[in-house]
Amino acid sequence: MKIRDVLLSEYGKASSVPSPVNRLMTDFAVGFRDGRDINLGVGYVNEQTIPHQQIQHACEKVLAHPEKYRASLNYGGAQGSPNLIESLRRFHIENKIGGITEQTLNGRDIVIGANGATSLLESVTHLLPAGIVLTADPMYYIYCNDLERKGFKVIAVPEDDEGIDTERLKSKLAALGEEKTAIRFFYVVTVNNPTCTILSNNRKQELVDIATRLSSEVGRKIPIFFDNAYSDLVHDSTVEPLTSALCYDELGIVYEVGTLSKILAPGLRIGYLIGAKGPFLNSIIQRTSDIGFSAPLINQEIASYLLDHGIEAQIEKVNHGYQQKATQVKMWMVELLGDNIEECRGGSAGFYFYVTLSNVATGTTSDFFKFLTRTTGCEAVDGPLDSKHSKVIYIPGEHCVHSNGDMVEVGKRQLRISYGFEELPQIHTALKIMKSAIAYSQKIHSSQ
Ligand SMILES: Cc1ncc(COP(=O)(O)O)c(C=O)c1O
Repeated sequence: MKIRDVLLSEYGKASSVPSPVNRLMTDFAVGFRDGRDINLGVGYVNEQTIPHQQIQHACEKVLAHPEKYRASLNYGGAQGSPNLIESLRRFHIENKIGGITEQTLNGRDIVIGANGATSLLESVTHLLPAGIVLTADPMYYIYCNDLERKGFKVIAVPEDDEGIDTERLKSKLAALGEEKTAIRFFYVVTVNNPTCTILSNNRKQELVDIATRLSSEVGRKIPIFFDNAYSDLVHDSTVEPLTSALCYDELGIVYEVGTLSKILAPGLRIGYLIGAKGPFLNSIIQRTSDIGFSAPLINQEIASYLLDHGIEAQIEKVNHGYQQKATQVKMWMVELLGDNIEECRGGSAGFYFYVTLSNVATGTTSDFFKFLTRTTGCEAVDGPLDSKHSKVIYIPGEHCVHSNGDMVEVGKRQLRISYGFEELPQIHTALKIMKSAIAYSQKIHSSQ
């Protein structure tokens, strides 16, 4: 009898082929030449923002003080290290992050994910039944791709310069009619990835109102998750201070997801969730236990120490670095690509620019993309086979906009450029190459 392959679940089947962005990044990473190729695609933080020495120092302190940091190399509890939870509580209250006070946190709890904010977001997909999820377009493609593999239907609503457009959201909700009962949650990234658009406080409040009204319409709490991955990285001083969505929440439906990845180090894998105590939060804690007991306790204690010792200066330093980079990169973009830029988002927070080009396609089959990845097939453009010219990678808009959404057409001319990982001289070189790629793309089109 013929033996068939391992029987996969629907999720298993959907996960057996890498997502388009994973494929793109893997292809690029395989042949990546340090010092030659330039990666404006990855969401990596800038290495210089990671406080290597302080982390080493914190590790020593933690190991030297077992009376405070108990058994830090042993298993941890599933809600997270009590030290870290206390440090996060203090960090939010003392710095009035988002206007959070002692009172805001009354009746709410903080839980630490097994592996960064990502593991908490992933846990949500297991604890809520499949159904509709509402988010902004362009969307955080990594999470939305995960949701769709798990059988959720993502409805992406275009954003404007204040974040997800609540008027369009209301029309989409009205159009759903009876299907509204299938809505499971809202997922909103407060400094959006890929666009770095900052969700304004007004919009945030409106979103909480919409979710609150919807909850009373369907007779069930519909949670709204705010992903604050980049909310500590607002580096433009002219931006209004961001208010925590918890401050607008009367029904207990708001959950905020935070991470220390962008302000300390992604490698610590510390993400946390703040929200109302109750069955949902309990289920998140059990899920953390199921997938690995807890985040590594030593990392949690290191993070706790760092939050207690100088986190404010660290955040300032990180933001100063990104602010300088954003200003310089913006100037180069205007100078080099300006004539071809229809719209540009970002530059005030996080470390991405999201650019709409006029008349230049950016997808993986486009001439622009082929020029930058040196896959045109023309040696004069690509360079000799054994020594290709510098390659430049970015995230094409086609992967950031929802494939069934309203932005499919414009997405074909969009791209996300990260100024996080690479240093300024490399970014400058990459932008000059992009200018040539636009000229190449236009030349091919005018000769067709
Ligand atoms: C919107 C968003 N959420 C979450 C994450 C991941 O956070 P963590 O490193 O804590 O898993 C990222 C990382 O880039 C992100 O862009």
